[in-house]
Amino acid sequence: HRHVLDLASFSVADFATVLELAQRFRALPVAGARRLPALQGRLMTSLFFEPSTRTRTSFELAAKRLSAEVQSFSPSSSSLSKGESLLDTARTYVAMGADILVVRHRCTGVPHSLARDLDRCGERVSVLNAGDGLHSHPSQGLLDLFTLARQFSPEAPTPESLRGRRIVIVGDVLHSRVARSNLWALTACGADVVLCGPPTLLPDCFADFVLAPPPGQAADPVAVRGRVQVERRLEQALPGADAVMTLRLQKERMQQHLLTSLDTYHRQYGLSHRRLALCGDGVPVLHPGPVNRGVEIAGELLDDSDRCLVEEQVRNGIPIRMALLYLLAAT
Ligand code: CP
Repeated sequence: HRHVLDLASFSVADFATVLELAQRFRALPVAGARRLPALQGRLMTSLFFEPSTRTRTSFELAAKRLSAEVQSFSPSSSSLSKGESLLDTARTYVAMGADILVVRHRCTGVPHSLARDLDRCGERVSVLNAGDGLHSHPSQGLLDLFTLARQFSPEAPTPESLRGRRIVIVGDVLHSRVARSNLWALTACGADVVLCGPPTLLPDCFADFVLAPPPGQAADPVAVRGRVQVERRLEQALPGADAVMTLRLQKERMQQHLLTSLDTYHRQYGLSHRRLALCGDGVPVLHPGPVNRGVEIAGELLDDSDRCLVEEQVRNGIPIRMALLYLLAAT
């Protein structure tokens, strides 16, 4: 791959490669970390047109741990405000030596069209999608896959660690690029995914989630895809779960009428220790963050690090992004 734009184009072998590398990077000491020289002389530029805490910082830390130079871009103080196009802005950074552009944008497809236009211009630069609109957030999907695989197989997390597992994804699936990336990754690795939420946030069509390869690509010969199922009630979704992932209510992308009230949502779909009694002891809870505390997850559960893997997901974001940067720029 020259670019990482979504997980639909990842084969099982691609997932295995990323997980194996991330496991190796994760084993390296963090405090006072010695930098690996793999990306010495490379430059990563982050172009974020939407706010971020986790993704931006962990990409930057990952790049630094591989000895890359890191450059950040702030849209409001850039020459975009003078009318320069996004493509010309990107080419300006490439002219300054950028090898990798990490791009987040509120509009679906921006990293894809930027990658295509840069390829057409003959620029030798990789585009890494850090989240586009409702569509895709591949590095988050990979770090969630890694976190889950490590739960089931701590010493050797592989795609096979997910095969036959029942993963419940709860909440605002409609607005969630994380849910879409997780659907691709988890089902490609053979996990069954149960989506749970009200019809306003989880339309019925998600039950028909298309698991065919993208146009022009052959089916992955190794993949035996997991199934996707829609449940409206948590009480029906949770029994038998191997892990539960809940999603942020994306109020900034929502029409007013999609929610009755946050209290009602929490009563029906909020996770708590009491609710989790419906699945087995020790079934882990994930959330991509940022969390609306007390809405998607009760505060007490969020603070229970034995049960809730939110901090573990954040920690795993660094080795996963190191693996992506390494694969794009070191080889
Ligand atoms: N999960 C995630 O993408 O978080 P940020 O928006 O903080 O990067």
